Amino acid sequence: MQKLDLLYKGKAKSVFETDNPDYLILEFRDDTSAFNGERIEQLARKGKVNNRFNAFIMQKLSEAGIETHFEQQLSDEEVLVKRLTMIPVECVVRNYAAGSLVRRLGLQEGQALTPPTFELFYKDDGLGDPMVNDSLAVSLGWATQAQLDEMKALTFKVNDVLSKMFDDGGLMLVDFKLEFGVFKDRIVLGDEFSPDGCRVWDKQTKKKLDKDRFRQSLGDVVEGYEEVAQRIGVSLVDE
Ligand code: C5P
Repeated sequence: MQKLDLLYKGKAKSVFETDNPDYLILEFRDDTSAFNGERIEQLARKGKVNNRFNAFIMQKLSEAGIETHFEQQLSDEEVLVKRLTMIPVECVVRNYAAGSLVRRLGLQEGQALTPPTFELFYKDDGLGDPMVNDSLAVSLGWATQAQLDEMKALTFKVNDVLSKMFDDGGLMLVDFKLEFGVFKDRIVLGDEFSPDGCRVWDKQTKKKLDKDRFRQSLGDVVEGYEEVAQRIGVSLVDE
């Protein structure tokens, strides 16, 4: 498949057209942003690590019966994906309190959420991705209730699969964000799953191994991502 024009440049990924209207090429860049793009830095190897991490996770989810946009890793930084019509919401599942939930409700970081909780945010940088709910998403025409129900069920299913996988690696999957789109009338998982969009802690020490290392200036950001990758079985060496 031929890589054509740049369609969209996001904060960490660029999206290119291909010569097939049903497919796009995503390029994972080393750019890392926080606080809604206020802070941007280049972190060596991050694009490559996230591309491999994402490919591994998407394949595991697919094996678990969750349809994803992932087709094929094309190079260190590039992946071929199905072209989805994206639904402009972020689906977040939290197993433990952290981040914006701690700030909003004054909870103790790390407090277990039993059962895990689900939140919906409107994907809009200008507005700072505000929290929304199903009712609003339906009223504003972003998705039908049936689509939202399916996205929520799929997000919990992803949580079941990945929580177990991370636990087996001695890790806690604290929370994560997913984005979905529509491909030929089906709800399909899009975007990426990488340590840029989830929180992962060491089970014993509670050491943070995700993008909070960047947000909180803890250092060794990509090293944290690589440690998670290695502990869940992602191969980072060139074959
Ligand atoms: O910031 P907050 O605590 O709401 O984030 C919940 C989860 O969603 C975290 O894992 C965070 O990395 C992810 N997230 C994201 N992109 C956003 C907002 C949150 O990947 N725009």
